Amino acid sequence: MKYTNLLSPIKIGNLELKNRIVLPPMVIWKSDKSGMVTKSHLDHYKESSGCGLSIVEAVVVSSEGRLSDKQLGIFNDQQIRGLSEIAEVIHQNGGAAGIQLHHAGGKATTRATFGETPLVVSKEAVSQSKICRELSTDDISRILNDFTEGARRAVEAGFDYIEFHGAHGYLGTQFLSPLLNKRNDKYGGTLENRQRFLLESFENISDEVKGKAVVSCRLGVADKKSGGISIGDGIDTACRLEQAGMQILDISCGNGYPDSAKPTGSSFKGLYHLAEQIKKHVSIPVIGVGGLVTPEQAELALENNMSDLTAVGKAFLADPGWAQKVLEGRADEINYCRQCNVCHQFSNPDRCPVWMEFR
Ligand SMILES: Cc1cc2nc3c(=O)[nH]c(=O)nc-3n(C[C@H](O)[C@H](O)[C@H](O)COP(=O)(O)O)c2cc1C
Repeated sequence: MKYTNLLSPIKIGNLELKNRIVLPPMVIWKSDKSGMVTKSHLDHYKESSGCGLSIVEAVVVSSEGRLSDKQLGIFNDQQIRGLSEIAEVIHQNGGAAGIQLHHAGGKATTRATFGETPLVVSKEAVSQSKICRELSTDDISRILNDFTEGARRAVEAGFDYIEFHGAHGYLGTQFLSPLLNKRNDKYGGTLENRQRFLLESFENISDEVKGKAVVSCRLGVADKKSGGISIGDGIDTACRLEQAGMQILDISCGNGYPDSAKPTGSSFKGLYHLAEQIKKHVSIPVIGVGGLVTPEQAELALENNMSDLTAVGKAFLADPGWAQKVLEGRADEINYCRQCNVCHQFSNPDRCPVWMEFR
């Protein structure tokens, strides 16, 4: 197979990507309280070469927004240097360097934050035993500013692409989802109000970055539970981000896997149908992700116009040489992900049985 679509270049604003293979953000939990980059991060991103765009894992913009006590941070200037070394490693591989800005909101725990109180969009949406505090409007302004500061640091570190996390049940999803957002102020209630945090994040980051990096959002366009984010809400939010000037979208789920949003006859088992549905409603490029293992599937997703770029996550943890082997015509040598989900359960790629067998 020639992988004509997969290996064709694409331009996003001023950013030229040599191919359409994307390494999606995947946390490897190799930092500590400092949130600093370690050698393990540099080795990990060096190994995963050959992608047009490699997006560095969720880096937290505010210390109280940590999901893990080992999460990478972008909440102070001392962290810039290490992050610049990751960007450099990705550039040396010939790819564009992306990074994901993250805040866990109510998914943070006092263990992960080293005692700081986690902040939630609405207290009603959290179990009573959880230690947390509801976000005041001042907190929201400060966190928006933390995202902007994170973007400034990402540009200083040399990243070409910055996406803020608006998926997977974290802060952006918590604002968007009517199940988690029970606020009565301008950030809650109507869809427009629930979208406000994401829209303001985009506007502030774009103003800060001034075209020095492409700004995107990993948008969770549907929740698993009914009454949460509907695919209609997701489509509307994607369109509003496009109208606000966003040049590319990375499409995933909100809180949990929304099987109900899946059209019958969808080509793949996983989440890819979400990107496919969003692509029909926006004209900016869309990154699709979820459930692809082989380059044949990735090529098919592009050929069938399901997305403009294609991200393969767990398949890269199984074989970091996935893209390089496709580029070099050695796709038959790829060690395939068995979709056992060990990596997801433990959020630790070191435990991938395929990687352990073939390293
Ligand atoms: C170990 C692991 C860590 C992940 N970390 C992140 C993350 O930091 N940010 C994010 O948006 N998604 C994260 N994800 C989700 C992936 O980016 C991807 O969307 C998901 O694995 C589905 O794609 P796949 O079927 O190709 O693996 C993670 C997934 C795994 C397995």
